Amino acid sequence: MMRIPITKPVFGPEEMAAVQAPLESGWVVQGPRVAEFERKFGAFAGAPAAVAASSCTTALHLALCALGVKPGDEVIVPAFTWISTANVVEYLGATPVFCDVDLATYNMDVDHAASLVTAATVGIVPVHLFGLCAAMDDVLALARRRGLWVVEDAACGFGARIRGQHAGTFGDAGCFSFHPRKAITTGEGGMLTTARDDVAALARSLRDHGACRSDFDRHQSSNAFLLAGYPRLGFNYRMTDLQGALGCAQMDRAEWILANRRRVASRYDTDLAALDWLERPRVPAGFDHGYQAYVCLFRPETPAIDNVPALHARRTALMASLEQAGIATRPGTHAAALTEYYARKYSLTPAQFPRAWTAEQLTLTLPLYPQQTDDEIGAVCSALQSAIALAH
Ligand SMILES: Cc1ncc(COP(=O)(O)O)c(C=O)c1O
Repeated sequence: MMRIPITKPVFGPEEMAAVQAPLESGWVVQGPRVAEFERKFGAFAGAPAAVAASSCTTALHLALCALGVKPGDEVIVPAFTWISTANVVEYLGATPVFCDVDLATYNMDVDHAASLVTAATVGIVPVHLFGLCAAMDDVLALARRRGLWVVEDAACGFGARIRGQHAGTFGDAGCFSFHPRKAITTGEGGMLTTARDDVAALARSLRDHGACRSDFDRHQSSNAFLLAGYPRLGFNYRMTDLQGALGCAQMDRAEWILANRRRVASRYDTDLAALDWLERPRVPAGFDHGYQAYVCLFRPETPAIDNVPALHARRTALMASLEQAGIATRPGTHAAALTEYYARKYSLTPAQFPRAWTAEQLTLTLPLYPQQTDDEIGAVCSALQSAIALAH
């Protein structure tokens, strides 16, 4: 039986050779390869500064620290996102205020966000979910109107653009993930992009225990035997040079990776168009989708608060029968607001975020990777067509 995974990283001889170089040089912690990865990434995204970190979560934490988030502050985050978008706000003793999402794009409903702004609100974290940019014109207009900063959670945003402008370059900072479920991977890893010199400088220091210069700079200097100064409280959120080397090799094939992700998505768009029970990803005019994931909505009837549990059971039965046919699927992501910690702490219920809850319950992510063959795409489409019979 053909087994089709949800994703597969693209590693070739170039990646193998790349990770060997730091092993041979003996410099494996954050150093020249991370610096090169930062340059390549910044150039690709059109970001004046790129600061690597150990993950997108830690990059988001660095961004919020650099912007001075403190206890008592409120930060608006979408209710349908990976939990770390909200967690980084909690780490700083501030309050994540969840807003519902638009079911057509799975991204922040900016009108709802606007209604949540209070005197305590300091910023907004729009998420470019699954590789589609949030409605940044509206987010930036709201931020300007209310004097808020914007940090883009661009964990999934590699290759996502609006009118040619790359995700992560709209707000005060953007944060990307290089987890293997993302378009390019360094195992674990993240990148903070910014046009603000103050944010870049603070993020560089905070990722390295609050140091005023990096280990690599120190080792290059004539007084390498002296330790750096530590003027502020920081973390160890450094990326290793092994990961930086891997990231450089992935950047060299970034255009190929993105083109092939779009090839697979476009074939799904065509072949699944006749399935009226499955809503495919929509791409607003002027937006380029990076297709970190191809996330559909199981929608044999219009979802509402009372029929979502029954539809969820059918969606899950569909996933189980696809699994049996060798096809891996996943839910899109979770409604972070409704995970146990947040639901308990802030008394949150599905009725407050009906669209985030619906998205959590009814999304279906299909396999997508650049090496996916036409036969593999065809197998997913025909398995979906046969499996629906079982889900009725
Ligand atoms: C929207 C979103 N934000 C943040 C993250 C966290 O990324 P990382 O695993 O690199 O910390 C993810 C990862 O899946 C994500 O999807």
